[in-house]
Amino acid sequence: MTRRGENRPAGGVAKAPWAGVRLHVVTGKGGAGKTTVASALAIALAGSGRRVLLVEVEERQGLAQVLDVAPLSYEEQPVATGPGGGKVLAMAVDPHEALMEYLALYTKIRRAGKTLERIGAVDFATTVAPGLRDVLLTGKIFEAVRRRAKNDFVYDAVVVDAPPTGRITRFLGVSTDVAGLAKVGPIHRQAEAITTLFRSRRTVVHLVTLLEEMPAQETIEAVDALWRAKFPIGGIVINAGRAPMLRHKEVVAVREGAIDSESIGKELSSVGLDNEVTAQLLLDEGNDYAQRLVLERRARRMLHRLDRPIFDLPLIEGGVDVAGVHELAAELRAQGAA
Ligand SMILES: Nc1ncnc2c1ncn2[C@@H]1O[C@H](COP(=O)(O)OP(=O)(O)OP(=O)(O)O)[C@@H](O)[C@H]1O
Ligand SMILES: [Mg+2]
Repeated sequence: MTRRGENRPAGGVAKAPWAGVRLHVVTGKGGAGKTTVASALAIALAGSGRRVLLVEVEERQGLAQVLDVAPLSYEEQPVATGPGGGKVLAMAVDPHEALMEYLALYTKIRRAGKTLERIGAVDFATTVAPGLRDVLLTGKIFEAVRRRAKNDFVYDAVVVDAPPTGRITRFLGVSTDVAGLAKVGPIHRQAEAITTLFRSRRTVVHLVTLLEEMPAQETIEAVDALWRAKFPIGGIVINAGRAPMLRHKEVVAVREGAIDSESIGKELSSVGLDNEVTAQLLLDEGNDYAQRLVLERRARRMLHRLDRPIFDLPLIEGGVDVAGVHELAAELRAQGAA
């Protein structure tokens, strides 16, 4: 664990208590890096001989972009190899196909799916009724986690690029509502089994955030909502961080005005630059930067109070390409996330 408030990566500490976990749900504020981190985590978890399924639920083809592969479909397909030679497969859950599969599995009428499709019920269910859409998406995740071939699970882990913090608790909890509506029968049993899995020690919900006040605050609120709904919280991933260029002592010096434009001017003239305006600009910039570091430290302190494992991922200059995702995966492993 990093010391409280300290602005440095928490590298090298084995701190992820999710040995038996089979479902990793990755949420976070919009744009904080959910898709990137879910991809990196799936690769990190694909150790030797392991099979990991990466799941997209938002129909946006975000994973295909990050992993630089053809658009994903309902068919699971290999997309990456882990550091230990494990395999990452990926799929995009299409609620329409999930409903057809569901009807085939759970109804006695073999052609129910086709009939419902003809009368427009499938479109209604998958597009007009958003709650039902989530039932189908979470149902497919549940199926993938539990799928067995012979005596073994097909996947050692399933990683979900999940909806953002504002929607995650409802998304994961949708089956609880269904179980309440259908009081008996196969739908009730299935909904109860999903709720049980999502609240069990086999599941963790990770939160991706940036080191800024608003995303940190949103993370804290999401953790609270998830916790109250009894979903297990995994790690907090602080994404796209930069190593601080000033030490704490220096931040204090800048903020206390111990460094003034005159002393900077002297330093500038000692290297042959003699310009008061430059000195003032540098000082202003230093002040802004010191202020940002103070805010980052505050955000980090807030996140540390959640008392969950914290993982720090660096900002990759120039954006994240496939090599960048592998770099982030290696970082997650080094910090004990997999
Ligand atoms: N560590 C990083 N370093 C540099 N760029 C990053 C990093 N992580 C993510 N990005 C970039 O930030 C952008 C948003 O990332 P990503 O798509 O993973 O976020 P998201 O949370 O899934 O967004 P959305 O809410 O839209 O689904 C992308 O352009 C991605 O390449
Ligand atoms: Mg995304």
